[in-house]
Amino acid sequence: MKVLIICGSPRKGNSETLCNRMKDLLEEKGTGTEIILLRERNIQRCRGCVEFCNKNLKCCHDDDMASIMQKMVEADGYVFVLPNYFAMPPGLFKDFIDKCSIFYTAETDLSAKRAAVISVGTDKPFIEENVRNVSRNFCETLKIKVVATGAFVSRSELKGNYNDIFENNPDLVDELEKIAGKLHKSLKYAGGEMVTC
Ligand SMILES: Cc1cc2nc3c(=O)[nH]c(=O)nc-3n(C[C@H](O)[C@H](O)[C@H](O)COP(=O)(O)O)c2cc1C
Repeated sequence: MKVLIICGSPRKGNSETLCNRMKDLLEEKGTGTEIILLRERNIQRCRGCVEFCNKNLKCCHDDDMASIMQKMVEADGYVFVLPNYFAMPPGLFKDFIDKCSIFYTAETDLSAKRAAVISVGTDKPFIEENVRNVSRNFCETLKIKVVATGAFVSRSELKGNYNDIFENNPDLVDELEKIAGKLHKSLKYAGGEMVTC
């Protein structure tokens, strides 16, 4: 089993910290992982030239999205980890979402994929809305089944603490463990194996 952990933050911050912890938790359960830091990839913004992608079933840009999407096809599941910017993902993650529309156009079957969606930010209702938006409007559209979510409060970076996510959430390790457990279990079901844990 392989899970892609996709980090949507444009900086090395709380989201990346959570990605690293999710990697450890999933690997402890025997699930292979790979972290993709979108900030390190070349992802050109969608130009909306649907005439091209509808006809060619690929994007007009020669950027890193084709290889990321290939990894998504090969993986069994995903963890999407993203900050909350105004109850939405950052532009970097939105660019990733928009480029994934080729999956929709090409009718790529992602219905066996399972995902966890996690967001961090300073305002709980907005973070939860961000998680809902990504789960419903991105994952559901592509038929990726969301099996676990998390919305975690960080202090504002304006207060000078960038990576406070663990100190601000005493139960965070337990909550991440639950998310990793749900994802791991759902992947075992998707593969038809009996779940004993
Ligand atoms: C442009 C921008 C907009 C933001 N908007 C919100 C917001 O509307 N609500 C919120 O709770 N946090 C907001 N934040 C705070 C981030 O979500 C928070 O700093 C988070 O920890 C960033 O994640 P990262 O550390 O993984 O980059 C915003 C931050 C930035 C840079």
